[in-house]
Amino acid sequence: MNWETGLKKGPFSDTQIRQLVEVMPALTSGQVHWLHGYLTGINPLLEAEQGTAIKAADREPSPVSEAEPLWILYGTHTGNSERLAKKSAKRMADLDVEAKVFDMGSFKPRDLKNVTKLLVIVSTDGEGDPPVQAEELLEFLRSNKCPGLGHISYSVLALGDTSYTQFCQTGKDFDAALEKAGAKRMVERIDCDVDFEEDYERWIEEIISNLGQLSIGNDGLLVSLPLLKEHAPAGEVVYDRKKPFPAAVLEKINLNGRHSSKETLHIELDLKGSGIKYEPGDALGIYALNSPGLIESVLNLLQFSGEEIVNTHQGAKPLKEALSSDYELTPLTGISLNRYAELTGSGRLKEIAADHLSVAEYIHGRDIYDLLKEEPARLTPETFISLLRKNMPRMYSIASSQDTVDDEVHVVVSVVRYEAYGRNKEGHCSSFLSDRINLGDRLEVFVDQNTRFKLPSEADRPIIMVGAGTGVAPFRAFIQQREARESKGKSWLFFGERNFTTDFLYQTEWLQYLKEGILTRADVAFSRDQDKKIYVQDRMLERGRELYDWLEKGAFFYVCGDKQRMAKDVDSALRKIIHTHGGMTEDKAAEYVKSLQLGGRYQTDVY
Ligand SMILES: Cc1cc2nc3c(=O)[nH]c(=O)nc-3n(C[C@H](O)[C@H](O)[C@H](O)COP(=O)(O)OP(=O)(O)OC[C@H]3O[C@@H](n4cnc5c(N)ncnc54)[C@H](O)[C@@H]3O)c2cc1C
Ligand SMILES: NC(=O)c1ccc[n+]([C@@H]2O[C@H](COP(=O)([O-])OP(=O)(O)OC[C@H]3O[C@@H](n4cnc5c(N)ncnc54)[C@H](OP(=O)(O)O)[C@@H]3O)[C@@H](O)[C@H]2O)c1
Ligand SMILES: Cc1cc2nc3c(=O)[nH]c(=O)nc-3n(C[C@H](O)[C@H](O)[C@H](O)COP(=O)(O)O)c2cc1C
Repeated sequence: MNWETGLKKGPFSDTQIRQLVEVMPALTSGQVHWLHGYLTGINPLLEAEQGTAIKAADREPSPVSEAEPLWILYGTHTGNSERLAKKSAKRMADLDVEAKVFDMGSFKPRDLKNVTKLLVIVSTDGEGDPPVQAEELLEFLRSNKCPGLGHISYSVLALGDTSYTQFCQTGKDFDAALEKAGAKRMVERIDCDVDFEEDYERWIEEIISNLGQLSIGNDGLLVSLPLLKEHAPAGEVVYDRKKPFPAAVLEKINLNGRHSSKETLHIELDLKGSGIKYEPGDALGIYALNSPGLIESVLNLLQFSGEEIVNTHQGAKPLKEALSSDYELTPLTGISLNRYAELTGSGRLKEIAADHLSVAEYIHGRDIYDLLKEEPARLTPETFISLLRKNMPRMYSIASSQDTVDDEVHVVVSVVRYEAYGRNKEGHCSSFLSDRINLGDRLEVFVDQNTRFKLPSEADRPIIMVGAGTGVAPFRAFIQQREARESKGKSWLFFGERNFTTDFLYQTEWLQYLKEGILTRADVAFSRDQDKKIYVQDRMLERGRELYDWLEKGAFFYVCGDKQRMAKDVDSALRKIIHTHGGMTEDKAAEYVKSLQLGGRYQTDVY
């Protein structure tokens, strides 16, 4: 566009034209739209300066309030997308924009004909799969039944985790399906890692500038954005992922008996003074430091002293320090592999990086050291850190209720240690907690809410809890809460671990709860106490009739722990029980399960 020719037609001096020509070409289309909206609304402001303030109620309805509503659809497993969707709607309300927020599970695809502006906020679940409530909508959008969506202008915010090989796959799938159906992208999709807050801000700001908005100040005058951020009341510090609380370690016990093949830590932390509140079902995020041994090995391999100053997202500092706190050395991610393949130009690595199954196979058991050793390359310290993922907190399902433990929070941590590619490997956070943390030390923590793993709101509802290993953690919190609140609902625990004598986590507590009737029944499966493995799902199948009766009486069904194997097998067992004892076909049993999921009566906290 020739800005100068156009502007010359307007009421501008030559100096103004020169100034505008300098600025305008650098603006994005979103910024131009925003300016358009801003300038359209500026006259009332000018009048206000002249002493004729126009209150919101007096002025003509803005193009925004007249405009079509903004539809915000979210698909979530643990509640992050829901939280962001609701936050976005609040932002829009503050800007006088009508927003309709829907869980994808309750949105009717036929309403797509009424939608002109659409925001999709969706996480990826399973292994590149949509959260259960998002399945049908995605399927519909991809199907022949989906009408042309040329009337829709949309944008997708994809939540995910770069440690998964199919990073943000569901967001990508929605974006592609909407585009294929003819919808127009108003703002490019943003794929977010687990620290999604900044990316979300960037995305929503772009959306708002694209909508060309003005907001209305408290005095009723039009004011321009920047956006309203959520602020804590003055003086109150809010601890979160970006500002974790330094919690002192009050207790650290290995729950496994002597000679156990496992190491499971019970950790109690002091939250006093933090004002932190949590609910059973939430998780605790913990930041860890890398193992000094691993840092030393990597530095030696790359022939760095560690004293080299590098620019990190946390400022300039010596490489060794950055490797301790700012980046991850384990596990290897697909993104690091991809970057290294590009950097080295290695044909073999590029071939692996091109296929997500090969990536998953390659990164299993390998860390960055293995990659550098296998395909050596000369790197500068800066290039090296550009390969690494930022240090991410690890999540631990909270194993306590504040009704019982007050200012404490308890977690249960299974320590990851294994041997692969000729070296002994340790989990970044779990080995930090096991090997380098002592009583009185402080851990950087924050609460990660999970609105989708919660006790029923009616306290007399029966609950069925299935947990293997550390999967028992949230159920300890559930039962503590039910005891404290004297809930009358029946409760049933299925617990699985390796050996009865060494691995029955919280055995005495469960026995006491049973004795007191707070826990109605418990079934345990110790996989390695006999030749043939017995797992929690075997116990469920043995008690199938009764389990089905509990479901028919409105029980909530919870699963926590390993997602790869246990949660899948428990899900199959549940379907089998409903099929057998409900006298249903497999399809009907699948519908039954789906309705439990959509109704919030089948909840999973799996990892
Ligand atoms: C919502 C949520 C709740 C969670 N709750 C709990 C909890 O209550 N308790 C708990 O212990 N954990 C829990 N986790 C898991 C926890 O967050 C960490 O993932 C876990 O502690 C491992 O982290 P790490 O830093 O020690 O290991 P990392 O350094 O992250 O290494 C783990 C990785 O090592 C690799 N690996 C592990 N074992 C092997 C092996 N045998 N062979 C090859 N590769 C292997 C895998 O790639 C694995 O992903 C939860 C996770 C989530 C998302
Ligand atoms: N990547 C790996 O190879 C690996 C290995 C272990 C744990 N983990 C992860 O580490 C985390 C914590 O594990 P954890 O120590 O709490 O417990 P866990 O390793 O999940 O084990 C708890 C119990 O679950 C049993 N189990 C194994 N497969 C099962 C299945 N298909 N169905 C039902 N139960 C099954 C185990 O039996 P058996 O072990 O006797 O089969 C054990 O008795 C989880 O995220 C888990 O995925 C990863
Ligand atoms: C069981 C499980 C499976 C996941 N699978 C993936 C995945 O395949 N790809 C990905 O990018 N993220 C994956 N994630 C990460 C989530 O998408 C991420 O934590 C997101 O912030 C969750 O948002 P939500 O609370 O709205 O569900 C997974 C998380 C969990 C708990």
